[in-house]
Amino acid sequence: MGRIPETTIQEIRDRADIVGLIGRYVELKQAGRNWKGLCPFHDEKTPSFNVNPDRQIFHCFGCEKGGNVITFLVEHDNLTFPEAVRTLADDLGIEVPETGGRSERGEGERVFDALEIAQRCFREALHSSQGTAALDYLTQRGLDADVIEHFGLGFVPDRWDTVSRALERASVPIRVGIAAGLLGEGKSGGSYDYLRGRVTFPIRDVRGRVIAFGGRALGDEEGPKYLNTPESSVYHKRRTFYGFPHALEPIRKQRRVVICEGYFDAIALHRAGVAEAVATCGTALTPDHADELRRRRVGEVILLFDGDSAGQHAMQRALEILLRVDLRVRAVVLPAGQDPDDYLASHGAEPLRALIDAAPDAVELVLRHAMMGGCSTPNQKADVVRHMAPLIAAIAGPIERAEYTRRLAVATGTDPTAVEAVVRASIRGQSVPADHDVANGLIRPRSAGADDRHVRQIALILSHEPSVVTDELCARMHEVLPECAWKDMVFLLVDAAADGCVDAEGAIDHLAIQDRLDADSMKLLSELMVDDSMLDSEMPAGDVLVQLVVRYEAKRLAERQKELTRRTTDPEEDARRILEEKQALLDRKRAAAGIGTGMAP
Ligand code: UTP
Ligand code: MN
Repeated sequence: MGRIPETTIQEIRDRADIVGLIGRYVELKQAGRNWKGLCPFHDEKTPSFNVNPDRQIFHCFGCEKGGNVITFLVEHDNLTFPEAVRTLADDLGIEVPETGGRSERGEGERVFDALEIAQRCFREALHSSQGTAALDYLTQRGLDADVIEHFGLGFVPDRWDTVSRALERASVPIRVGIAAGLLGEGKSGGSYDYLRGRVTFPIRDVRGRVIAFGGRALGDEEGPKYLNTPESSVYHKRRTFYGFPHALEPIRKQRRVVICEGYFDAIALHRAGVAEAVATCGTALTPDHADELRRRRVGEVILLFDGDSAGQHAMQRALEILLRVDLRVRAVVLPAGQDPDDYLASHGAEPLRALIDAAPDAVELVLRHAMMGGCSTPNQKADVVRHMAPLIAAIAGPIERAEYTRRLAVATGTDPTAVEAVVRASIRGQSVPADHDVANGLIRPRSAGADDRHVRQIALILSHEPSVVTDELCARMHEVLPECAWKDMVFLLVDAAADGCVDAEGAIDHLAIQDRLDADSMKLLSELMVDDSMLDSEMPAGDVLVQLVVRYEAKRLAERQKELTRRTTDPEEDARRILEEKQALLDRKRAAAGIGTGMAP
């Protein structure tokens, strides 16, 4: 395994921007010295995820995950440690010497390489003589050169080995192409291009890396209209939005996201000036999709599905999923049989934008739709109420839910208490865990005994100002601190400081001691490093440390004294030895008092 040189890690440490990096995945808001957001590692509704730019560390007080820029990528993107380092180095433009040669790079990273090679190859083909028909097709569908460039559209020629030859030229093994979903495996052991003779839509992750391709046939005659590369180690369509990386910034600015169902639709919306548009990738909207949005603190979702009944059905299911995670949803009804792309072609950009801006509340829309079938007889009223109940039951906010329940009663002209009962029955019918996080065992409050708390306080001081510890203090801590995970952390920090692993401000440099930390100690350390309570303390850290140690010392001595007193009354004990021990104890007490005063010159 090629080792990453220490200098590379140091450079990353000096230049990494943890708020910027994590901000690509999580919407962060500044709160004092930390930035806060919804934890990407567990489900939560109030932010307990902290990022500290001064210390370049993150920590979640909910699920206790924590670490630095490198461990974030390892945990979040499922990368290996060297892959994460290389990704960061790439991002920062830092050269990583290839000590072990290319063949030693991680498989995950090579999959990205293969996809990027294919992307380059498809784009070149679109603009070569082979791509004439494809380019004509795109032009005829209203896409100009800028749009084609922006979305990175390409063409995969109608042959069996376009991709495999490109991979070969770049010395990427065929098995990597297969793992990436680019190549199919032939029965006789060979491989063939999965997509052939199609316009290609690169599908990217939030970081802009190509993770899959959608492929549109040039005509509507034979074969499937779309073929998409399959799911892989890097592509999970259940949580991927087409166009997401480009839309992130507009989504943040507009405080809303527009969701449609097709690649061409997302592109059409972009062409119409709705840059905050994304599309699902050949699948209905899933709870994972909803989670992606909720985590980013998207203010509002606007659903833009086909006007036909299948589209309306899909819209309703998507709505239910989004309501569950407390998102506000509006929806556009397009004329039956028209998708956003068709609508743009027949009506133009301005009417499409107007439709989106004026989109009604989605629950109201479904209600109006349900009532169109008639709502005058008792049976019809009951049908409408029953149709709406699961949707209203899905609404996360109690105020909103009550309000929609009331409106349903008013709109259908039915008894409010009866409607409320139906909605409540629907809530009971669905499995809503009382508290998500607790139910999943994600929140495990650490046993917070007083002992633990004070040893943690010592570790906190040592993580920020390790220079305050002396050899003598260190020896006393060994003796008097109660055994617990925090005590191990205290000595890990003492050792790190002794080895000079401190940063410019004199705090512990967690990146420099990366290889001494396992997952558990990383958690503890990150918790300390986002904790800035120390900075508000009036007393110098060294004095606080001494006080804490003295307190433990006194406690241990009191325990010893109690023990000696018990032994004095024991006829089996040698009275003189007890006296000697008592004397020694007294000396120790004096010495202990001494470290509180004499030690701070
Ligand atoms: P549509 O059938 O609505 O196609 O599928 P479209 O997006 O309007 O495409 P054009 O305008 O006819 O070219 C919507 C989405 O469903 C997925 C694709 O992601 C498509 O964009 N799909 C559809 C497939 O994956 N495979 C298919 O065979 C059809
Ligand atoms: Mn279409």
